[in-house]
Amino acid sequence: MTKLDQIRAAEARLLLSTYDRSPVLFVGGHGVHIFDENGTKYLDLLSGIGVNALGYNHPAITKTIAEQSQKLIHTSNLFYHEGQAELALRLTERSGLDRAFFANTGTEAWEGALKLARAHAGVLRSEGKTIGTKFLALEQSFHGRTFGAMSTTYKDKYREPFAPVVPGVEFVKLNDIADLRTKFSNEVCAILVEAIQGEGGIRPLTQEFFAEARALASSTGALLIVDEIQAGMGRTGKWFAYQHYGIQPDITTLAKPIAGGIPLGAVLCTEEVARSIHPGMHGTTFGGGPLACSVAIAVIDAIEKQGLLANATAVGDYFQQQLRSLAKRHEAIVDVRGKGLMVAAELDSAELGKLTVAEMLKRHILINCTSDTVLRFLPPFILERAHVDTAIKVLDEIFSEYAVSQGAAASAGGHQRG
Ligand SMILES: Cc1ncc(COP(=O)(O)O)c(C=O)c1O
Repeated sequence: MTKLDQIRAAEARLLLSTYDRSPVLFVGGHGVHIFDENGTKYLDLLSGIGVNALGYNHPAITKTIAEQSQKLIHTSNLFYHEGQAELALRLTERSGLDRAFFANTGTEAWEGALKLARAHAGVLRSEGKTIGTKFLALEQSFHGRTFGAMSTTYKDKYREPFAPVVPGVEFVKLNDIADLRTKFSNEVCAILVEAIQGEGGIRPLTQEFFAEARALASSTGALLIVDEIQAGMGRTGKWFAYQHYGIQPDITTLAKPIAGGIPLGAVLCTEEVARSIHPGMHGTTFGGGPLACSVAIAVIDAIEKQGLLANATAVGDYFQQQLRSLAKRHEAIVDVRGKGLMVAAELDSAELGKLTVAEMLKRHILINCTSDTVLRFLPPFILERAHVDTAIKVLDEIFSEYAVSQGAAASAGGHQRG
């Protein structure tokens, strides 16, 4: 029995069955590569689902962890430490927002954002304004797995087994301005969007839809909340994906790459929103601890020092360009889209999506498929053109082999029928 087999057997006995893992045991990594227990090197175009922004074993992260872990790992939020204000300064300067709250994960940051919106609406009501408690979320959205986040997440499969979900959420068709206008009223306390939907299939908001959401929210005092958990912190070539649109939210949420692999989430908001929160209303034991904050500061500084926003733009554009030329040779690719290093190739079948992920893994490249048919690439921000070339070559092989197998199956079918 291999070590992987032993672990698989033990997990099958001991863990809740929440994931259908791929059969590979990872033990280390360097740069954009991750290594299995046999020393086989994989090109990682998924980066732990958009987390490992600086790849593996980046000295800025390992050095900061080593130093900070010897100084102070945890204090609780009952006392001060050196990291939170310094990190909040970096995030507020880059986001155009005023204040931060630190959590541990994406879903938890999102819960904080929802609570802020409800509290803010309460303050407005106490000041005599007419504003309700309803949330407008978008079809195909994904905001997390806790109750509030799950209730604002579109797909039934995430919500139905746990019904009843949190009431007061209505879903608007993505980029459908008429639907947004119909469903918006002064019953709404916040409109919830991802500037570029991640799990939903790398689907960007249109400029017009995003602008309308901003205008409607502003017209009543409702909030525009932008979930940047997957798209934020530089992945799209700007610190925040909403910055591509020139639209400023009232609240945004961050997690995934913010601390390069150490769990950390953040809620950022305006001064206007911040006035609705007072000590005791919200909190966390672990969130914003000294270790996570120091690593996040190091990650932001490394992104800047290494010019990784510009790299995400340049290598991301190259990636899309190469995928588009691949699409000319393979009609199974029906669309290529994304921004920076948040890239998608939509295929014409779910079967091919699944097969491509499995074949890429066999050929030592990690990607995933979301929304059934969308190949999703969320590589580390340090990706280079040569890595893109490697991936494109392998995708070309896989699609060519698939086309041959489909052709053979069709002609075998034809012979049988004949
Ligand atoms: C846009 C978005 N929001 C929220 C989440 C939830 O984050 P977490 O898994 O850290 O709770 C995710 C995770 O994929 C996400 O992509």
